Amino acid sequence: MPPSSVRIGLLGCGVVGQGLLKLLRERERLIRDSVGAPIQVSRVAVRDPGKRRECELSGIHVGTDAMAVAEASDVDLLVELAGGEAMLEPVRAALRRGIPVVTANKHILALHGEELERLAGESKTTIRCEASAGGGIPVLQALDHGLRTENFQLLVAILNGTTNFILSTMARDGRDFAEALAAAQTLGFAEADPTLDLSGQDTAQKLSILVRRAFRMDVAFSSIPTEGIIGMELEDLRQADRFGYTVKLLGIALRHPEGLDVRVHPAFIPKRYLLAAVRDEFNGIYLRGEATGSMLFYGKGAGANPTAQAVLGDVVVTARECVSGVKLLGTPPMRDPEQRLPLDQVRTKYYLRLLVEDRPGVLAQVAANLGATNVSVAQMFQAEGVRGEASITILTHHAKDKDVREAVAGIAKLPTTRKTPRAVRIFDI
Ligand code: HSE
Repeated sequence: MPPSSVRIGLLGCGVVGQGLLKLLRERERLIRDSVGAPIQVSRVAVRDPGKRRECELSGIHVGTDAMAVAEASDVDLLVELAGGEAMLEPVRAALRRGIPVVTANKHILALHGEELERLAGESKTTIRCEASAGGGIPVLQALDHGLRTENFQLLVAILNGTTNFILSTMARDGRDFAEALAAAQTLGFAEADPTLDLSGQDTAQKLSILVRRAFRMDVAFSSIPTEGIIGMELEDLRQADRFGYTVKLLGIALRHPEGLDVRVHPAFIPKRYLLAAVRDEFNGIYLRGEATGSMLFYGKGAGANPTAQAVLGDVVVTARECVSGVKLLGTPPMRDPEQRLPLDQVRTKYYLRLLVEDRPGVLAQVAANLGATNVSVAQMFQAEGVRGEASITILTHHAKDKDVREAVAGIAKLPTTRKTPRAVRIFDI
């Protein structure tokens, strides 16, 4: 007998949880027709039940014990929107007893994705996580279903709204890093701890979730070489513009004959790239597939409504499975483990900005350091500075990442170098 309704246990009722409750109410008829039965929220677990919320919770059992919700007999589907490592046990508990899970928790997925998917498979249930990467953009459902059998060569993505907003604001308004960060925080894009955004960790977590689907490879988030945008100066953005580039924090997965190259770092990208037009808090995921060629997924990567819609999409698909008893396809099966290409071996172009003493022989010393590790200069610009200093901007040809970093370390040690050199990769393939 199909169930007369699908009962949801909800963990967390912050802005996304409240947005979900609102959408469930407003779109009740459409949801019922899509699922084949009504969806009801039977239980909610929150940290503070006394807190004022914008949503109607009457008729719902509200408590503080997430594990009790995961184990309750009147819960058919667990929706986890509380976030953080503390939610791992309740999610595991639900999956162990065959209850499907919808979650937005990029932290547990990036760290324990393989285990949670295995648990779901063993219990013949599912875990879905559209909202965990790319916010409201339905890229995971596309990768799990329509693109499931595609072979991808490249995924390059802007996955963090906060840093994209900061870089866009600096470039457009000429504001410095601290001012642009303060504006992002005021608008509510940043994580509670903005270091996760700024250090690139948030992007690396989302990249690991995407790579599992697009490349069918389990790439531990902790194994992804990650650099953030801390230290990015307005002058770097001005120089990028001068040479025809724009600066973005990228998550990259690129298949080379020698292995999969996965990394997160800020990069100069040519202004003609579609991703260069992804500005402010928007996200963009560019994919290049063997059969499909180029595709760009674009939309809001953060915010209550887009994220709640992504959660609702997963809820509807999962609830439909509960009613029909027929499981749709989950995460694609993993390939046999493939070789990874270490960052040291990746060949890339670089932008370098140096502040040096302006006297004879200094440029020759800089060039000698680059030449010693086989790094070739493509373009150079020198501006006369104050106090006998010169600012030199260099764009290199493709070189091994390790070799460029070695040359830059050598230049940093020269007695004529006045400031730690700035070095940013150029992504132009
Ligand atoms: N802090 C994240 C961002 C929120 O800025 O993209 C969405 O994960």
